[in-house]
Amino acid sequence: MDRIHDWTVDVVNLWGSTIVERGAIFGYFTGLVTTDPRNIEYILKTNFSNFPKGDDFAETLDIFGDSLIMDSPSWNYHRRMTRRVLMSNISRNIIANTSKKVVQDSLIPFLHDAVENSLVIDLQDVFLRYTFDTSFSVLFGRSANYLSPSLLPNELAQGLDDAMEALFYRNIMPNSYWKFCRRLMIGNERKMDKAWKTIDRYLTMYIKAKREDMSEGTSETSSLFEGDMSNLIQNKNDEVLIQDDKLFRDSAMSFFIGGNDTTGTALTWFFWLVAKNLNVEAKILEELQLIVFSKKLSQKTPLVFDIDDLKDAVYLHAAICESLRLYPPIPHNRRTSLEKDVLPDGTIVDPGMMIVISMYAAGRMEHVWGKDCLEFKPERWISENGKLNHETMSKFFGFSIGPRICLGQEMAFAMMKLAASAMIFNFHVEVLVDQIITPKPSIVLKMKNGLMVTVKQRAFMCSA
Ligand code: HEM
Repeated sequence: MDRIHDWTVDVVNLWGSTIVERGAIFGYFTGLVTTDPRNIEYILKTNFSNFPKGDDFAETLDIFGDSLIMDSPSWNYHRRMTRRVLMSNISRNIIANTSKKVVQDSLIPFLHDAVENSLVIDLQDVFLRYTFDTSFSVLFGRSANYLSPSLLPNELAQGLDDAMEALFYRNIMPNSYWKFCRRLMIGNERKMDKAWKTIDRYLTMYIKAKREDMSEGTSETSSLFEGDMSNLIQNKNDEVLIQDDKLFRDSAMSFFIGGNDTTGTALTWFFWLVAKNLNVEAKILEELQLIVFSKKLSQKTPLVFDIDDLKDAVYLHAAICESLRLYPPIPHNRRTSLEKDVLPDGTIVDPGMMIVISMYAAGRMEHVWGKDCLEFKPERWISENGKLNHETMSKFFGFSIGPRICLGQEMAFAMMKLAASAMIFNFHVEVLVDQIITPKPSIVLKMKNGLMVTVKQRAFMCSA
C-alpha cells in the first residue's frame, strides 16, 4: 500500500499508459487505468457525459452527502452557486485577507517560537493546521486557532483525517467487503462511524452559530457562508432554506476535504522538494527580494506579502506547479462508463467499466514530460518570454479539467503562495535526515510520517 502510486508508475511504464482488466485476475473487477493525456482529456472533458463518477462513488463517499463532488441531480445548481460565491471579488478578498492574517498571526509566530526554542517540528502538521484555520475562518468568519504553539488537538480536524483514511480503504476494497465491515462495525468502518458523528456534531454547531449571527445581524459579509446563504435566500423560498442546513453541511464537507488537506499536503511536498533543491530556494528568494525592491515594500522583517504583491512571482508559481506535478494531492480520479466507447488511444471501454486516472503516474510519464520527468525543475513551466508556459500547463491535470475542474484552484494558490513566500523570505527550513518520506494510504497524498524539520531565521536583512 505504501508504494501503490509508485507501483502504478512502474506498471504503466512496463505495460503502456492504458491498462485494461476484464475480470481475469479479480473476478469482480472490470476496469482500466490510464495516464494517457489524450484519454484523460476525453474522459474528463470531451465526452464528460459518458463518464460520471458512478453509483459506487456515491456509496463509497457517502459521508459527503449531496455535496458538490457527487453526481447528484442538484450538482449543476450547487456548482453554479459555489462558483458564483468563490469567484466574486468579495470572496476573493475574504480568502486573500484571511490567509494573510493566518500567516501573520499564527504561522509566523509559530515558526519564531520553533526557532527560539530550537524545536523539531512536523511541517505537515503545521500546514494542515494552517489550511484548516484558513478554511474555517473563510467559511464561518471565526478563528479555530488550531495552529498555535501549544498544538492542541482539534476533534473536527481529527474526524476529517480519520474519515479520509477510512475512505481510502473503501476505495481499494471490493464494495461487499467494506459493507460487511460496516454492518459489523469493525476495522476502518468503526473509525468512519466515529469520525462521521464527530464531523456532523461540529458542523451542526458551527452552522447554527453562523445562522444566529446572521439573524441577529451581528455579522457583516465576512465569511463565504454568508455568501452561500445570501445566494440561497435570493434563489429559494424560506421553506427550502429551513431544510438547507444539510446543504451547508455538505458544502462545508467539500470545502474541508476538498480544500484543506489537498492544500496542506501540497505545501508539505513543496517544502520537501525545495529543501532538497537549494538552487530553487535561492531563485524564489531572489524573486521575492526583487518584488520587495520594485514595490518598495516595507523592509521590516518578518515580512508577509499581500496576494497582489505576488502577481509577478512567476518562478514561485512555477515551483508550486512543478511540485503539484510530482506530488498531486489527489493522486487518482475515478469514473465509470455509461455506454460503450472508444478512447483516443483506441482502447475499447465497455459499459459500466471502472476507470481510474492516475494523476500521480500521469505527471511522471517520460514520453509526456521528457527524460528529466522525475526531476524537480520549475523552469519547465516558464516560457522564453518569462511568462508561464501554456503548453506545459495543458499537460497538467492535478486540478482536473472539464466541467468538474476544481473550483478552489485560485484559493489553493492564494493559500500556498502566501504561506510559501512568507516562510521562504523569513526562514530557512532544514529537513531532518534519516526520516522515511512515504505517502500515507489516503485519498489525499499526505506524508505517512509527516515531515520533520528545523527552522532558522534568515540572517540577512533587506537592504536597498
Ligand atoms: C492544491 C490544492 C487542490 C487540489 C490539487 C485540488 C484538486 C481537485 C481535483 C483533482 C478535483 C476534481 C475531483 C474529481 O473530479 O473527482 C477537485 C474538485 C473540487 N475542488 Fe479542488 N483541489 C485543491 C484545492 C481546493 C480548494 C482550496 C477548494 C476550496 C474551495 C477546492 C474545492 C473543490 C471542489 C468544490 C471541487 C468539486 C468540483 C465539482 O465536482 O464540480 N479544491 N479539486
